[in-house]
Amino acid sequence: MSKSINILGSTGSIGTSTLKIIQNSESAFSVNLLLAGGNLEKLKKQVQEFNPRFVSIHDPAKATELRHFIRETAPETEFVPFEEALKLDCDIAVSAIVGTAGLLPTIHAIRHAKRVALANKESLVAGGDLIRQECAETGTEIIPVDSEHNAIHQCLRAGEPKEIESLILTASGGPFFGLTHEQLESVTINEALNHPTWSMGSKVTIDSATLMNKGLEVIEAHFLFRVPYSRIHVKIHPQSVVHSMVEFRDGSILAQIGIADMQLPIQYALYYPGRPENQIFRFPLEGSFSLDFHDPDRVTFRCLDLAYRCGEAGAAERIVLNGANEVAVQAFLKGRISFAGIPAFIEHMLNIIDVPHPTTVAEVVELDRRVKKQAELEVERGHF
Ligand SMILES: NC(=O)c1ccc[n+]([C@@H]2O[C@H](COP(=O)([O-])OP(=O)(O)OC[C@H]3O[C@@H](n4cnc5c(N)ncnc54)[C@H](OP(=O)(O)O)[C@@H]3O)[C@@H](O)[C@H]2O)c1
Repeated sequence: MSKSINILGSTGSIGTSTLKIIQNSESAFSVNLLLAGGNLEKLKKQVQEFNPRFVSIHDPAKATELRHFIRETAPETEFVPFEEALKLDCDIAVSAIVGTAGLLPTIHAIRHAKRVALANKESLVAGGDLIRQECAETGTEIIPVDSEHNAIHQCLRAGEPKEIESLILTASGGPFFGLTHEQLESVTINEALNHPTWSMGSKVTIDSATLMNKGLEVIEAHFLFRVPYSRIHVKIHPQSVVHSMVEFRDGSILAQIGIADMQLPIQYALYYPGRPENQIFRFPLEGSFSLDFHDPDRVTFRCLDLAYRCGEAGAAERIVLNGANEVAVQAFLKGRISFAGIPAFIEHMLNIIDVPHPTTVAEVVELDRRVKKQAELEVERGHF
């Protein structure tokens, strides 16, 4: 029996890679739902190629055209309004929407899928406690797709959670590894989007360049593996060969190695606990190669420390960190603030905004909306 898959964010980088895995799975998986944000043309092509049972789109302005397209060209697929689509049952939901827009879809996925393959790290940053609570209540398992957490998940199969001494997240360092603060002042959007080892969506690529991505991943690791922040470390590893490591209490360190292609962790998350035969994702072992590890420059790349600080501080600070970062990244991509202005902007938002501790998903969503609205006003004021 093939396992039914809902892909939340099918038109994105992770969504597209997930579809490649399904295509090569020899019917181990079937596409139950394709759900996109607003890229109607790409979604239409995916419908024709993958023949999903259901399809949905977030942008209400595109829903009518999608519905019409389905009626005319893909009568076997059913159009479902966005809110209803989030509640469709399936075996595995791939949570691959970018930003906190993925929080509610992830919560619904936990309620309606047997497994959530989680790529959307921002949902854990903003609502980690609530996601953990939902998983405990429903029994749904989360298998991380993010390559670092996926690596840790694999390493942990060799030991018990209580035997963990520390988690070591690796980071490529992004395109600006080794640059000074002064040099960062003048980097361009295209330079920031030019990631040396991974091909990803624009938001996560900019987050990688600022090291905020690693900061969000530290928080993600804290919620996924229940390890205190003081025992989650970051090492810059420019080759992106070791995807992360676990240090156990006896002194052994286990690392997961593989090519830098997100299809590999996605495949793991879909097939777990099995490992399919695959000749595509072979790491080239012939010849010599070296592995370098460095400590991150936490003074120049301040986002990492901001994330540790907010992770320790609590849910309200995490929501401000994440919301301010999402707005700052979009503002940078539109040329409204400088690259070096991103951490300064987030720090400014942490100083000026005071939000209460949220206890429900609705409160997290409302606080996230408030933070982003305020952050957009601050961008308008143009100090960064
Ligand atoms: N890409 C990677 O290699 C990678 C690696 C590790 C973790 N991640 C994480 O995975 C997540 C997705 O990253 P990505 O790189 O795949 O991003 P992406 O390429 O920008 O794709 C984002 C997806 O989210 C959809 N979307 C955006 N806003 C939405 C909304 N309000 N409602 C419904 N769908 C919405 C987009 O739809 P439209 O395009 O149709 O608008 C698109 O399908 C992020 O949290 C990222 O940090 C990504």
